[in-house]
Amino acid sequence: MKAVFYRRYGDASVLEYGDLPVPKMALDGVLLDVKAASVNPIDWKAREGYLDPFADTVFPIVPGADVSGVVREIGIGVTEFAVGDEVVGCVREDYLSRGAFAEVMPAPVRALALKPQNLGWAEAAAMPLAALTSYQALVRVLDVRRGETVLVHGAAGGVGSVAVQLAVHLGARVIGTASDRNHAFLRELGAEPVNYAAGLADSVRALAPAGVDVLLDAVGKRIQRTVLPLLAPHGRFASVVDPKARELGGAYVFTRPDTGDLPVVAALAGKGVFRVPVGAVYPLPDAAQAHLLSQGGHARGKVVVAVDVAACAEERPYDER
Ligand SMILES: NC(=O)c1ccc[n+]([C@@H]2O[C@H](COP(=O)([O-])OP(=O)(O)OC[C@H]3O[C@@H](n4cnc5c(N)ncnc54)[C@H](OP(=O)(O)O)[C@@H]3O)[C@@H](O)[C@H]2O)c1
Repeated sequence: MKAVFYRRYGDASVLEYGDLPVPKMALDGVLLDVKAASVNPIDWKAREGYLDPFADTVFPIVPGADVSGVVREIGIGVTEFAVGDEVVGCVREDYLSRGAFAEVMPAPVRALALKPQNLGWAEAAAMPLAALTSYQALVRVLDVRRGETVLVHGAAGGVGSVAVQLAVHLGARVIGTASDRNHAFLRELGAEPVNYAAGLADSVRALAPAGVDVLLDAVGKRIQRTVLPLLAPHGRFASVVDPKARELGGAYVFTRPDTGDLPVVAALAGKGVFRVPVGAVYPLPDAAQAHLLSQGGHARGKVVVAVDVAACAEERPYDER
């Protein structure tokens, strides 16, 4: 099968496009014909060796956890899915080896949900981690309630763009931080945009003089100085980037793909509660460019890798509209 993989840690130049054997399938797992994968910052952090203390590796490593595809084979113990099912997955195994940047990917059933029919393959692949993270942070940890004011820091990225829409759905008023070029984008999602550069505090205070009720940090740079002072007394906050949020009285959310939340967020996407903005799509052989765009830190929405290019051809990325 065709795949993108790396044989050692390093920058994006270690990514190779070539042939690998079709991976084996567990007795209680499935094999997927991959349609699309999406990039999350953890993918290039793993490629650079950041996860080495936490995960054994079997090189060559195929990157990518977020996937959309069709079930090609099922293990003897699988009752939840059938061959031909269209699925999405957030596939995080205990070791690094077999990812979504490949024509075929193995997956445990706990990591999968049926693909919402209203999502194209690229958008479906963009959904899992961004939606799980937003949902677990805003609903399970922060318990956002109707009428509250929520500040989403890093609102134009994969996590932030879904978080804005989920918070609006929960009945909150949402303020989102982004550079000026993304302000129209944030308004489309339902947020009041503010620039995170000079004047951030004044801009937020002009919109929420008493402070914001809830802060979701998806940026993580010096939040003590930047966004934390904008929280109202007794406000609640969580970071998905900085574990030190705990020491500061907030929560650090490390997304759990194995909690049964994927079918829940897939159902919300299926009802149109949120869309997953796809900022850019690259064909599989150009996956290194997808990593580079994500790593640059200013991708809008999600960066997708089309494994089945024809299947994703109908979907126009936001940046090409
Ligand atoms: N804990 C977990 O389980 C978990 C799960 C998912 C993600 N994460 C982490 O959460 C972070 C965000 O993930 P993501 O997928 O949303 O990343 P992403 O899509 O790559 O984020 C890119 C966005 O960040 C914005 N941005 C860059 N610098 C900013 C700043 N100083 N203030 C506000 N916005 C800024 C950019 O907007 P502009 O172009 O307008 O600057 C861009 O739209 C990453 O560090 C990721 O590793 C953690």
